[in-house]
Amino acid sequence: MTGFSAQWLALREPADHRARDIALQSIVIHDLERLARMRAGPLKLVDLGSGSGSNLRALAPLLPENQHWTLVDYDPALLEAARAACILWADQVVSNDDSLKLIKNNKHITIHFRCEDLSSNIEAVLAEPADLITAAAFFDLVAEQWLERFCGLLSTPLYTVLTYNGIEHWTPAEPSDAAILKAFHAHQQTDKGFGAAAGPTAAGVMEKLLRMRGFAVSNASSPWLLDSKDRSLIEQLATGSAGAVRDTGLVSRENVEAWQRSRCQATTCEIGHTDLYARPRQF
Ligand SMILES: C[S@@+](CC[C@H](N)C(=O)[O-])C[C@H]1O[C@@H](n2cnc3c(N)ncnc32)[C@H](O)[C@@H]1O
Repeated sequence: MTGFSAQWLALREPADHRARDIALQSIVIHDLERLARMRAGPLKLVDLGSGSGSNLRALAPLLPENQHWTLVDYDPALLEAARAACILWADQVVSNDDSLKLIKNNKHITIHFRCEDLSSNIEAVLAEPADLITAAAFFDLVAEQWLERFCGLLSTPLYTVLTYNGIEHWTPAEPSDAAILKAFHAHQQTDKGFGAAAGPTAAGVMEKLLRMRGFAVSNASSPWLLDSKDRSLIEQLATGSAGAVRDTGLVSRENVEAWQRSRCQATTCEIGHTDLYARPRQF
């Protein structure tokens, strides 16, 4: 497993929610509102690599009244954390058994938790009827070959946010920034369970593949813009990035340690992401 902890996902959740591109998100909401007006029954949404449910908590309050979500992750502990976090977040819990039914902002939301390894079982997951496939901070983990497989299967709209795109600016600048970033990108492209990861190229590859298959694709930039108010996140980010760089062996230990020490004190930090919305031609 890639080993994302619920604590790390909780720490990044406010920055993730702030970073999402609002204009692109409004288009998605508008399309789903139109769909909900055209037919009865709940909207069906599938969240790939859901972790502890941050993507649902960002999007569900903005969508039409009746929603059925399937949160898919291969880490059962994160799916349990998702259930617990959604219970805390809800205005009212209607029932809590196999599925969780809750009310938030007058939205009736049913959540199904599905433990599945998406590297092997994406076909089964995409076979589930859905009005929207969504994901947050997930697609940079997958390999280009897996993206080809995924895009070849996709027949519903896809809204994916916060795919790491490789842009980083830290202030004040450090002489070792460029070497560290190069090594970090090398680490980003190691195997995260799907084959050599697309890492910072994932959003571009996905856009190209989906356009080739006739999807209308829009993208937008959704960077984390962090400052001293985000000190814990900056520290964890610097520590995690330094650990990844150390694993590559591309930068000397002393330089990585010096970089980590200074980056924990960084004044500002921009980490680039891309949001993408893709609609099949007939949608
Ligand atoms: C960076 S986290 C993002 C979590 C969540 N979407 C969020 O925005 O907080 C990536 C997620 O992908 C999940 N993941 C990684 N590889 C997976 C796989 N092969 N199958 C299913 N989930 C996977 C991880 O367990 C983790 O929850």
